[in-house]
Amino acid sequence: MAASDKPINRELQLPREHIVSGKNRLSNHRKGPERKNAAVIDLSDQTPFASGYNRHCYLHPDTPGRCLKVIRPENIEARYQRQTPLKKLLGKSRINDNKQEQRAHQQSAIVSLIKQGQENQVWRHLPRFYGETSTSLGPANESELLLNSNGEPAQTLESYLQEHGFDPSIKAASERFCEWLEETGILTRNLLPHNLVIAWRNNQPELFLVDGLGAPDAQNRLAAIPAWRRRYIARRISRFYNRIAWELSDKQQSWEASQNL
Ligand SMILES: Nc1ncnc2c1ncn2[C@@H]1O[C@H](COP(=O)(O)OP(=O)(O)O)[C@@H](O)[C@H]1O
Ligand SMILES: [Mg+2]
Repeated sequence: MAASDKPINRELQLPREHIVSGKNRLSNHRKGPERKNAAVIDLSDQTPFASGYNRHCYLHPDTPGRCLKVIRPENIEARYQRQTPLKKLLGKSRINDNKQEQRAHQQSAIVSLIKQGQENQVWRHLPRFYGETSTSLGPANESELLLNSNGEPAQTLESYLQEHGFDPSIKAASERFCEWLEETGILTRNLLPHNLVIAWRNNQPELFLVDGLGAPDAQNRLAAIPAWRRRYIARRISRFYNRIAWELSDKQQSWEASQNL
């Protein structure tokens, strides 16, 4: 659990690579020394390897093992239009998942783990995060690409559950993931199986949260109170297990309806 939960003003110190190589980079109209994020990465001839409702995910064309997530503008616009007039005044960046994810990586639990030299603890169940990168499709969030044992993008928990059910190996992985949440105090939104992927570490499957890091602003502030933070995390965990049960059910009842029982 994070000891100090004061608002964070300084920039999170995440791993930064200053030099990049790769022949494709040369095609990026750039002069002078090659610096990361200095040029626009061309994604025009690429197809996303996966897409969610809000973002398309591309393999990084120059840096193996990384992915680039760009916003699907049509969905941001649709979400924005559904907002109340008051919320509209707060602007679109509130509902921009890339911006939210950047803020989420600056949450107090993550910043204090890094400050304490325990950065590896952060990335035990999160893809390493490299911040914002310019692409031909707009700003992207760059992060570690999680792979399966064949070197392909990792399977989501949702798809695993459909194939194998909640078997003992994934049950154990889920328990390790939830213990990590409790131990680190890292805040997340509701944990949805399509936002978790399975990658192997030390000969066992581990869950990684690829989407849904961070809590809404008000909850993030309230989490300065340790008991409140514990309660918030306990609720996310209990909802996570409910959601797994729902995924495995006949889904006759919608997820929302099942929550209101
Ligand atoms: N770091 C990653 N490594 C491997 N696959 C990923 C990664 N991030 C996302 N994915 C895949 O892309 C899908 C969509 O990404 P996500 O971030 O959930 O988009 P959205 O914000 O639109 O929901 C995920 O469900 C997952 O299958
Ligand atoms: Mg998602």
